[in-house]
Amino acid sequence: MLPFQDLLYVAFYAALAALVVAAGGLGLLHALRGRSVAVQLAIVGAATVLATTSGIAVISAMMVLNDHDRAVVQAVVTASGLVAMAVSVLLGRRLVAANRTLVDAVRADRFRVPPTRLPAELAELSRELEAAYERLAEAHRREQALEASRRELVAWVSHDLRTPLAGLRAMAEALEDEVVADAGTVRRYHGRIRAEVDRLAEMVDDLFELSRIHAGALRLSRRRVGLGDLVADAVAGTEALARAKGVRLHGDVSDGLPVQVDSAELGRALRNLVVNAIRHTPSDGTVEITGEVRGGEARVTVADACGGIPEEDLPRVFDVAFRGETARTPGGGAGLGLAIARGIVEAHAGQIGVTNADQGCRFTVRLPLTLTPAGRPSP
Ligand SMILES: Nc1ncnc2c1ncn2[C@@H]1O[C@H](COP(=O)(O)OP(=O)(O)O)[C@@H](O)[C@H]1O
Ligand SMILES: [Mg+2]
Repeated sequence: MLPFQDLLYVAFYAALAALVVAAGGLGLLHALRGRSVAVQLAIVGAATVLATTSGIAVISAMMVLNDHDRAVVQAVVTASGLVAMAVSVLLGRRLVAANRTLVDAVRADRFRVPPTRLPAELAELSRELEAAYERLAEAHRREQALEASRRELVAWVSHDLRTPLAGLRAMAEALEDEVVADAGTVRRYHGRIRAEVDRLAEMVDDLFELSRIHAGALRLSRRRVGLGDLVADAVAGTEALARAKGVRLHGDVSDGLPVQVDSAELGRALRNLVVNAIRHTPSDGTVEITGEVRGGEARVTVADACGGIPEEDLPRVFDVAFRGETARTPGGGAGLGLAIARGIVEAHAGQIGVTNADQGCRFTVRLPLTLTPAGRPSP
């Protein structure tokens, strides 16, 4: 039995030798830190074996082992060292293979979490990569949809703005060359020029609003306004149009709760809905605007007697430049009104939708109500 003091000596020198080896190993690992994990694991394995061997060298030098014992210890250490080395090399190769699988998955057109079982860290990384890929793909899809609608808009602009411009030019030339001379026709031409210019100005204004919505540059200045006032303003602003068309216009608000909105923008959205309703309702028909608070949200509904929108058009009416068959008449709208209405409502974190209901269709604007500190709900 080795005296305790000698045992301490042995432990001390063995630890010293192991520390020297470990320092060398760490230095080497640092120098090779950019290399493959397989190489680094092999270094760790080699350093472990070397540390043990140097420990044995120390105790051999201190002559605490006889030749026989030393041979046994050396055999055991060599065998287990070799096995440890083999295991670390194997582990390194598995890590390299797992990494390669992940790299291949990333390089593929569409990233998918590899079906093979990966080490926990790499599995987590691959899940994060998949989530990042989904976000990227979603952004790309949105970008493409936006680009398509922008292209469509440019095509539309060049067509729909050019046509009335050609008409304006023809009328202006006719007036200039005095091709039309009788007072009645001249007055009619002036009237038509004025109306066309108004319509073009409205289109340009709509385009500007739409580009602000698309660029996310719509700055809402929210104020508290009564739901009833909003509906009353929409009615007042469209009464003349309704009267001219012989359409009855009703506004009805069951709850005049104040809502926190940009009244100019939301008013514009509602006006677009009401103008559409009047335009698509035959004379003697009725357009009904109702405001109510239901299920924690403010709801404004515009119901008309248009005879219903074709089912296949329902999901598309809010698209930029979409116009139904019957609306594609010269002098008709530009197909921007509902796209603008949707943009404004969504900027208010609200939703807009349309359904067909008995004699016509029903557009609904829903705005979320949140509880204010005073306990009163407001959007
Ligand atoms: N109240 C309505 N009744 C029937 N159809 C409608 C109504 N509102 C909108 N639509 C349909 O949706 C299309 C898009 O409307 P909108 O964006 O306002 O463009 P525009 O009024 O310039 O045609 C219209 O062309 C029409 O086909
Ligand atoms: Mg319209």
